[in-house]
Amino acid sequence: MASVKKILAIVVLIQCATLSESSRMLEKKKKKTDGNTFNVISFGAVGDGVEDDSKGFKDAWNAACGSSASSPMIDGNIIAPSEPSAWERKRNCHHWIGFKNFDGLFIQGSGTINGHGSKWWKLSCKDKNKGCHFRKPTGFMIANSKNVEIKGLTFEDSPKMHIAFENSISIHATDLTIKAPGNSPNTDGIHIQRSTNVTIDKTIIQTGDDCISIGPDTKNTLILETSNVVQVMESALAALELSDMNVEFVHGGHGYARNVKFERITSYASARPIVIDQFYCPHKQCKNQTSGVEISNVSYEEIHGTSHKEIAVQLSCSESTPCKNITMKNINLKNEDQNDNTLSYCHNAHGLRNGRVYPNVSCLRYDDSF
Ligand SMILES: *[C@@H]1O[C@H](CO)[C@@H](O)[C@H](O)[C@H]1NC(C)=O
Ligand SMILES: *[C@@H]1O[C@H](CO)[C@@H](O)[C@H](O)[C@H]1NC(C)=O
Ligand SMILES: *[C@@H]1O[C@H](CO)[C@@H](O)[C@H](O)[C@H]1NC(C)=O
Ligand SMILES: *[C@@H]1O[C@H](CO)[C@@H](O)[C@H](O)[C@H]1NC(C)=O
Ligand SMILES: *[C@@H]1O[C@H](CO)[C@@H](O)[C@H](O)[C@H]1NC(C)=O
Repeated sequence: MASVKKILAIVVLIQCATLSESSRMLEKKKKKTDGNTFNVISFGAVGDGVEDDSKGFKDAWNAACGSSASSPMIDGNIIAPSEPSAWERKRNCHHWIGFKNFDGLFIQGSGTINGHGSKWWKLSCKDKNKGCHFRKPTGFMIANSKNVEIKGLTFEDSPKMHIAFENSISIHATDLTIKAPGNSPNTDGIHIQRSTNVTIDKTIIQTGDDCISIGPDTKNTLILETSNVVQVMESALAALELSDMNVEFVHGGHGYARNVKFERITSYASARPIVIDQFYCPHKQCKNQTSGVEISNVSYEEIHGTSHKEIAVQLSCSESTPCKNITMKNINLKNEDQNDNTLSYCHNAHGLRNGRVYPNVSCLRYDDSF
């Protein structure tokens, strides 16, 4: 199968680009190509980090048609405009870079995708901020696609979540690095929803919110050999805002999250290393209500490291749809301060423990009917 490559050598700035299989097929192949390589610079991208190069990206993309497998290669830096007003001009722009309607897509490289989110973070609604902005763009989105692989890239400072997988099947994300400051709001590492057969491995995530969050209608998800890293903090205050290694199950609406496995994960002082929270309230303006999302068959195995807070394992499930078949095997999470104990908390969580589990999660209810 011929492979189509687009190579980015230097810093390019793009705004709100959605690349889709169908748009790729619209135009016929142009010149300015070197065999199977379609360099965005040859398609008008300036690459000085100032000029908006979105058009160069789209044109290179559209030119790279005629192949059933696509493989964009990103070796330079792609940066977003830093002013939130740049988004306002574009309607329906909920994400910065998006790939839609693909069957077979391999995105790789050693480059960095920088969402320049710091101005957005100040508009966060998390603390009832005046002039807050609910519609922050997601950094990078894969939607309505299947057989996608993403490898090697670094994602930084997204306005909101860094990566979202939506309505997709068979995604493999590997060797990624995702980072944003510990106090940046809602900058989840990877959010997965309405997707099946997603694997995330060998990934380092250090952000201001959940490392990985799982939304409704997600199944057969495997997360392994993933860790969060903590920078050396300059002040005690910064240390209180360490990134979470949270894996958060998101709520609202109905649906399910099932057959999810977290394995060989290291937590470095995350706020809450293991959390299922069906009472989730992201902006202090919602009622304390649970969702109808059914969470079942979630297993945690070989999870080690430290927790910033005393409660290292929190399983808050709803009365109407308790969590079922949550299994914990070989867990060891110590408090960040050496030798300090950690605790667990459960609400309507049913499941099993196996091997050495610390904190002991004795609140997990064993019940044959679940
Ligand atoms: C998910 O993967 C399993 C095992 O490889 C496979 O049997 C199943 O068909 C896949 N599901 C979808 C929706 O492709
Ligand atoms: C439970 O999830 C595991 C993955 O952790 C999967 O292998 C297994 O088949 C699932 N069990 C059922 C009954 O779906
Ligand atoms: C919401 O309700 C749950 C279950 O009753 C309780 O454990 C939790 O503390 C409540 N949260 C808030 C913010 O009131
Ligand atoms: C319960 O969890 C275990 C361990 O992950 C898995 O093997 C089993 O298939 C699950 N059962 C159901 C009914 O989901
Ligand atoms: C689990 O840990 C708690 C708190 O450390 C302790 O009180 C309890 O006795 C332990 N339960 C078991 C079964 O070891």
